[in-house]
Amino acid sequence: MNSDLSSGQESTVRAAVDWDAEAATFDDEPDHGLRDPDVRDAWAGRMKEWLPSARSHILDIGCGTGSLSLLAAEQGHRVTGVDLSPRMAERARAKLAGHDAEILVGDAAAPPVGDRRFDVVLVRHVLWALSDPEPVLRHWCGLLRQGGRLVLVEGVWGEKSPVGIPAHRLADMLAPLAARVHTERLSGDARLWGRAVHDERYAVVATFADPRTAARHTEVVDVHLILRRGDEVLLARRAGTGYADGLLHAPSGHVEDGEDVRTAVIREAHEEVGLDLAPDDLRAALVMQHRGPGGQPRIGWFFEAEYGAGGEPVNREPDKCSGLSWHPLAALPDDMVAYCRAGLDAYRAGHRFVLHWHEDGDAIAYEPGGVSRALALGETRADGGDLRG
Ligand SMILES: C[S@@+](CC[C@H](N)C(=O)[O-])C[C@H]1O[C@@H](n2cnc3c(N)ncnc32)[C@H](O)[C@@H]1O
Repeated sequence: MNSDLSSGQESTVRAAVDWDAEAATFDDEPDHGLRDPDVRDAWAGRMKEWLPSARSHILDIGCGTGSLSLLAAEQGHRVTGVDLSPRMAERARAKLAGHDAEILVGDAAAPPVGDRRFDVVLVRHVLWALSDPEPVLRHWCGLLRQGGRLVLVEGVWGEKSPVGIPAHRLADMLAPLAARVHTERLSGDARLWGRAVHDERYAVVATFADPRTAARHTEVVDVHLILRRGDEVLLARRAGTGYADGLLHAPSGHVEDGEDVRTAVIREAHEEVGLDLAPDDLRAALVMQHRGPGGQPRIGWFFEAEYGAGGEPVNREPDKCSGLSWHPLAALPDDMVAYCRAGLDAYRAGHRFVLHWHEDGDAIAYEPGGVSRALALGETRADGGDLRG
């Protein structure tokens, strides 16, 4: 597919693409052919993060000319590629020659792999082209071995008449199927595309519980930075992320596998607002278990740091944040993510452990005068513990 879709052709491309005809020039796009070493390295780095470190069997569905299959094979994995287009498959076979790989012609909805099962089902830029993705996703889950994972790279291309699947929709489709769904934004990394892009591009890694651990409950852990400048606190306005866009939120993010919460907040502070914080700059301020409307519970750690530590905050992710601003902690704005607002209110009131449990149908945004979902644990406040949020 042409990564530069931007005209009225977009709405019809889904039905119209003749992939056999595309095969000859498909690799001319930087992110397709990976001919530029910088682009290739950028994808190789991501693949290393998404694929298991142990040698695994990867099923690359809609493998096209086999560029990602080749990266996987070069990283020591065994690869089975499947594509509906014989011309694409032919090119993939040539590209993978000499590697532990086979390329089959077949439909993504029912790849011709018999009863073979895989450690990873890898699919880049294919799901958007399928008319009914949900049953196909279920089928792909059934092709995984116990403890396997889906790695899906998708996007919404074009700005005038965009085509594709927004990240939040794909995450919603996977939530009932997977033990954990992790979304990674890719638009901000120009190296992946060979140029800056402004539309939505992302990867979703969905993991499925190993039967030995399936019965154990697991939760996503997120970290938040309370950057204090005297009586004020720094907030970031979310934009273009598919979650809580337009609302103010503390700089925050998910803890990654194998990372402790303090390292995670240092990393997030660097990635989002350009601060180079040292561990000693941070103090754990509050822990909140929170659940969004209709969502899964998460553990949120809030760390405080003083303005000046780590440098001057700047908006380093303009594709996810429209601006940074300082606000008095005692008079926070209303247009905030509700649980974050509740966390900051609780922090100001001196609470350290808080539950914030939305009911299905609640708004993600803070509602002035609305029902408070915040509950301070193990602490009694003189005013009865009503934490707005
Ligand atoms: C945009 S290309 C992506 C190729 C490759 N995954 C990559 O990222 O370089 C889409 C590929 O999906 C294949 N494709 C489209 N519909 C398919 C289907 N129903 N079953 C299998 N492959 C399909 C096309 O032939 C094409 O090779």
